Amino acid sequence: MKQAAAQAAIAYVPMDSMVGVGSGSTANHFIAELGRIKHKLQGAVASSEASAQRLKQLGIPVLELNSVDELPVYVDGADEITRHLAMIKGGGGALTREKIVAAVARKFVCIADETKLVDVLGKFPLPVEVIPMARSHVARELLKLGGQPEWRRGVVTDNGNVILDIHNLEILKPIELETTINQIAGVVANGLFARRGADVLLLGTGRGVQTLTRH
Ligand code: A5P
Repeated sequence: MKQAAAQAAIAYVPMDSMVGVGSGSTANHFIAELGRIKHKLQGAVASSEASAQRLKQLGIPVLELNSVDELPVYVDGADEITRHLAMIKGGGGALTREKIVAAVARKFVCIADETKLVDVLGKFPLPVEVIPMARSHVARELLKLGGQPEWRRGVVTDNGNVILDIHNLEILKPIELETTINQIAGVVANGLFARRGADVLLLGTGRGVQTLTRH
């Protein structure tokens, strides 16, 4: 189902353009698909070192985001997504760069299998990237929001920071919560993608790929 969604996303990549590429197992399927059409691409901007590595191995040029004026499309997976196309991302720890590349892209195409579609976000622990010296402070502040933050021990992000995963949240107002968490000193980014959610969801199901668009 992940592979079918990844394959369907190729139709959203304009010829002779740059493409933003996400991280995770579904994005890896998309990278493999890009390998087949690499002669039609200018190159890619990756949201993680791991994805950059994979793209380079396939001979696809990887550019720094700062050297790219515009990005027509960004394709990435999600840990959870609603029918309104708000997401939790960051299970793989790449949320900050994913959010930055997504912010530049004109269109966000989310690729996912049907297990990722939820009515309410929050069963999947919400990742928050934190400056290391702020870890305990941020954890105390997150407790006040009603969830249980847990330090993802042993994990250092591509940006040299740590991750706190907030368990047991029922996120009824994702835009508000995304904004609130961003206000805590020491937070770099959080895994709620609601202010800038996906524009299109390609959902791999047992009955084929379903397309949902934001309205
Ligand atoms: C990576 O940091 C995440 O945001 C991924 O997009 C998310 O974890 C989805 O991963 P899978 O495609 O492996 O399920």
